[in-house]
Amino acid sequence: MSVDSVFRTRSLGVAAEGLPDQYADGKAAKVWQLYIGNTQSRTAEYKSWVVALLREQGARTVLDVACGTGVDSIMLVEEGFNVMSVDASDKMLKYALKTRWERRKEQAFDQWEIEEANWLTLPEDIQKPGKGFDAVICLGNSFAHLPDFKGDQSDHKLALQNIGEYGQTRCRILIYQIWSGPSSTRQNIYYQSDLTQDISTSVLWVNSKPHMITLDYTLQVPQAGPQSPPEVSKFRLSYYPHRLGRFKELLQAAFQGQVEHQVYGDFLAYVPGQTKAPCYFVHVCKKKA
Ligand SMILES: C[S@@+](CC[C@H](N)C(=O)[O-])C[C@H]1O[C@@H](n2cnc3c(N)ncnc32)[C@H](O)[C@@H]1O
Repeated sequence: MSVDSVFRTRSLGVAAEGLPDQYADGKAAKVWQLYIGNTQSRTAEYKSWVVALLREQGARTVLDVACGTGVDSIMLVEEGFNVMSVDASDKMLKYALKTRWERRKEQAFDQWEIEEANWLTLPEDIQKPGKGFDAVICLGNSFAHLPDFKGDQSDHKLALQNIGEYGQTRCRILIYQIWSGPSSTRQNIYYQSDLTQDISTSVLWVNSKPHMITLDYTLQVPQAGPQSPPEVSKFRLSYYPHRLGRFKELLQAAFQGQVEHQVYGDFLAYVPGQTKAPCYFVHVCKKKA
């Protein structure tokens, strides 16, 4: 890895206003559907779990706060949930909006609401409908995209509180899916494209602690036509390295201990110290009655 690529980890995308958007150059957005692999098989891995959890709680209205190109939201719209989807990146939202337009003749898609919004300014960006949503989801390692701008995790706390405000009092579920770290031995249930050629990792340490993990992705894009040259797509995404214990504390601090919190490893109940390390931790918070 070159020194240059470590220095460039400090550049986290472009800010039109407020938060820098790591997807602003459109590169990752353009190949996102290719990168995640077959959407049907991706959702099959966790669809029954997420849908069962939401139904168990009687949830009908769901806010997806990091919808990206819309994969998880589409899954829920198809399953009959009333979904509002937001994301900070207009480049990512473009693909969700395209799907909504293409499927507008289906009533569920006609009613699907999509807005641009950033967790740090959520109250200014979208209006909370009535008492709020039955459930709020934040899937796909999205929460780890938020940098720790001030070095004290106050922005993480603010984002969690803002997101939490949109869940209604009696039936609130917040799902934060956090990547548990790179490992070639764990099967990644979320991103499983066979077009991925390489992912190189660099870590920025600040005060002897890992502060930012940057992944440089290289993807082989299929030829658009028989005459087109093969294309290689390169994009970069940086993440804050949340640690399990600290993230639990952060959730309790953000919600002032008013939530029941459960951790799942790859959608199975997580037992601390278990031999099989999960690829993703899923945090589910329910407001205490
Ligand atoms: C890895 S993508 C995941 C998208 C989708 N959930 C999926 O799994 O395919 C992460 C998304 O989080 C969004 N995001 C990151 N920080 C955000 C913020 N502060 N507010 C709103 N969205 C944000 C990004 O724009 C991006 O679309």
